[in-house]
Amino acid sequence: MSKMNTQMLSAKDTQVAAKILREGGLVAIPTETVYGLAANALDENAVRKIFVAKGRPSDNPLIVHISKVEEIKALVRDFTPDAQRLAEAFWPGPLTIILKKSDAIPDVISGGLDTVAIRLPAHPVAREIIEAAGCPLAAPSANLSGSPSPTRASHVIDDLSGKIDAIVDAGACEVGLESTVISLCTTVPRVLRPGAVTVEQLRKVLGNVEVDAAVLSQLEKNVAPTSPGMKYKHYAPRAKVAIINGSREQYISYINTHGDSNVAALCYEEDAADIAVTTVTYGSEADPSVQATKLFDALRKCDELAGIDLIYARCPSQRGVGLAVYNRLLRAAGFDVINL
Ligand code: TXA
Ligand code: MG
Repeated sequence: MSKMNTQMLSAKDTQVAAKILREGGLVAIPTETVYGLAANALDENAVRKIFVAKGRPSDNPLIVHISKVEEIKALVRDFTPDAQRLAEAFWPGPLTIILKKSDAIPDVISGGLDTVAIRLPAHPVAREIIEAAGCPLAAPSANLSGSPSPTRASHVIDDLSGKIDAIVDAGACEVGLESTVISLCTTVPRVLRPGAVTVEQLRKVLGNVEVDAAVLSQLEKNVAPTSPGMKYKHYAPRAKVAIINGSREQYISYINTHGDSNVAALCYEEDAADIAVTTVTYGSEADPSVQATKLFDALRKCDELAGIDLIYARCPSQRGVGLAVYNRLLRAAGFDVINL
């Protein structure tokens, strides 16, 4: 593919971004979770370009973003009572709802499934762009397939500059991890990807909610995942990551005895001073929301360290938003957990 000139836009340029999207182009847009790589969801050729720019397998379906709740009605077969309750409670916000798709959704979006994932983002710039474009926007995270999702415009530039039409820079993303994905097409509503809207919050609205097995464990070969994205390696820096599961003291002493010049620690801020090897921090033990905001930026920073080929990561708690942090870190580590 020939290199194109990627325009840098600001949060004020929503009309410019909308025009590019209406004309079938690709624009990276800010959302409250991570930056998304947007295209007109109803334009098959535009959507196909997303897969090429990201190097994304074509069987991995995309989330369709809307700016008003009523826009969902044309995109799904039935806006069910459960879906309405979720929309009322969590939209606009970091929740994606999977329902049976309507005929308006091109197959290229759903990757051959009969369902579609819909989200109404909270970021005002995202909503303005969707509204100005006048169409729903398909938008996966704006990273190269396999690398950590972008939480700053600079991450998008690193991955996609020269491959997309424009990037709208609106600063760092508040949440920092991708939306919670819940399927309402399973017998019991099922969380396919944990995020800032927690399982506990979802249960308060829907009652019974289950968590897909692939959230915390590696799929067996030949088992079809509920969410195709879960079978792919994700978020991984170039160096190998291993999660160290133990107390703060055990973690620090493990690193200080196993550490070497090729080893770095991905730890909490309060750990850094006690660790003998290079450190990259991602928030503090007490606050999983801050860990979420910082994790992907920290994983990208690991790639900037020269001569490091092994990273020992501090293991987050699995409560509340911590489940989402742990889920992403598990994938970055290829499920390599060392239990102390
Ligand atoms: O926060 C987010 O959700 C960001 C921002 C840009 O909105 N988007 C995002 O998209 O993370 P993406 O494509 O990186 O992740 C979408 C995930 C994938 O794991 C995909 O397999 C799953 O959602 N997914 C999409 N449609 C689905 C469907 N119909 N059934 C099951 N899983 C689906
Ligand atoms: Mg992604």
